[in-house]
Amino acid sequence: MKALILAGGFGTRLRPLSCTRPKLLFPIANRPLLDLIIERLAKNGVEEVILAVNFMAERLEAVFGKTRYGVTLHYSRDKPPKRETPNSQKSLGTGGPIRQAEKLLGKEEPFFVLNGDILADVDYSEILEAHQSYDATATLALHRVEDPSRFGVVKLTKENRIEAFVEKPKKNTPSNQVNAGIYVLEPDIFQYIQAGKRCSIEREVFPKLAEERKLFGHEIKGLWVDVGKPADYIKANALWLAARSKDGRSTKISALRGTKIKENVAIGSGVQFGEISIIGPNVSVGKEVRVGNRVHIENSVIFPHTTISDYSTIKGAVLGEHVTLGRNVRIEEGCLVGDYVTIQDNTTLSQNVKVCPSKKVDERTTTSQCIV
Ligand code: GDD
Ligand code: MG
Repeated sequence: MKALILAGGFGTRLRPLSCTRPKLLFPIANRPLLDLIIERLAKNGVEEVILAVNFMAERLEAVFGKTRYGVTLHYSRDKPPKRETPNSQKSLGTGGPIRQAEKLLGKEEPFFVLNGDILADVDYSEILEAHQSYDATATLALHRVEDPSRFGVVKLTKENRIEAFVEKPKKNTPSNQVNAGIYVLEPDIFQYIQAGKRCSIEREVFPKLAEERKLFGHEIKGLWVDVGKPADYIKANALWLAARSKDGRSTKISALRGTKIKENVAIGSGVQFGEISIIGPNVSVGKEVRVGNRVHIENSVIFPHTTISDYSTIKGAVLGEHVTLGRNVRIEEGCLVGDYVTIQDNTTLSQNVKVCPSKKVDERTTTSQCIV
């Protein structure tokens, strides 16, 4: 069986960290999100994966190459529409890349399509089985959420047929069951997507299939997060760390030179700790990170090769690669610090501040402004 992973979005809500890497390379417990997805597909019998790439395609290709977990990887880069107008977009949306990969996907059997920014503990084979029991062109995994307004929302019949599909409804939300971004599609789907054009599968194709009674749903429970927003990315990391520790897969690290580790925590190779720091809970520290004395990090993700000096505190934030934090720096909730940023001593970044790559933040700054 084949799967296509939509991997070409711009990750705008995760800027500035997504300016230098695609969303699918964001680490979850120190492994790229895409790595976790391919591993799971491999376990579900998928042999070929087509990565529908666009933005920073070369980064993905450089990291993943031609095969992983025994799965063959193909890269299908969005071709810009043939007749370009000044306003035409150079990306194909969520439907166009599926049509573009028609030859790679073939016409013989159904295939999976996944939004690449979803971390889910899901059994893909179960969705395929459900699909085979319906007379469906598309079967969508569905998940229940508290606030459905930023998702595709469905109205489901008792027979699991989707009567209505509304993408990001502004009002009159039909239910709290949303499109989980995991589909089984029949090759018939190609007829619904025009070649060489940008198309939103959620806005242009699913509503039509619902009308034609060819759209079905299958509810999935358990871990499911769209990592599109900073808070959700941090939550995805925390949930994955928790799931991993239940599996007994986490490395138990006790006190390191007087540094206290509060589980759940992932620590990469070559990380150095000073004394009397507190790391955790819900923290991933990438490889070769250097942590000074009396540092406190909780609920955060630290990318590789970053240095955090004495007395600094990081809570609910993400630090990119090769960041240098001086002494007594406070990074508050929702902050995103780009790669190669230097933050000098005694500086506070208050909630939700974003710092663009390579910027230098001077000593004794207290800011709630984004630094671009
Ligand atoms: N190749 C390519 N080209 N991929 C794209 C493009 C494009 O132009 N645009 C988006 N993608 C990829 C993104 O990288 C992401 O993996 C996936 O398509 C979905 O795009 P998002 O931008 O993350 O959409 P969303 O989160 O607002 O909404 C989607 O996901 C929700 C579930 O999290 C929709 O499918 C909703 O209906 C769904 O509920
Ligand atoms: Mg998304």
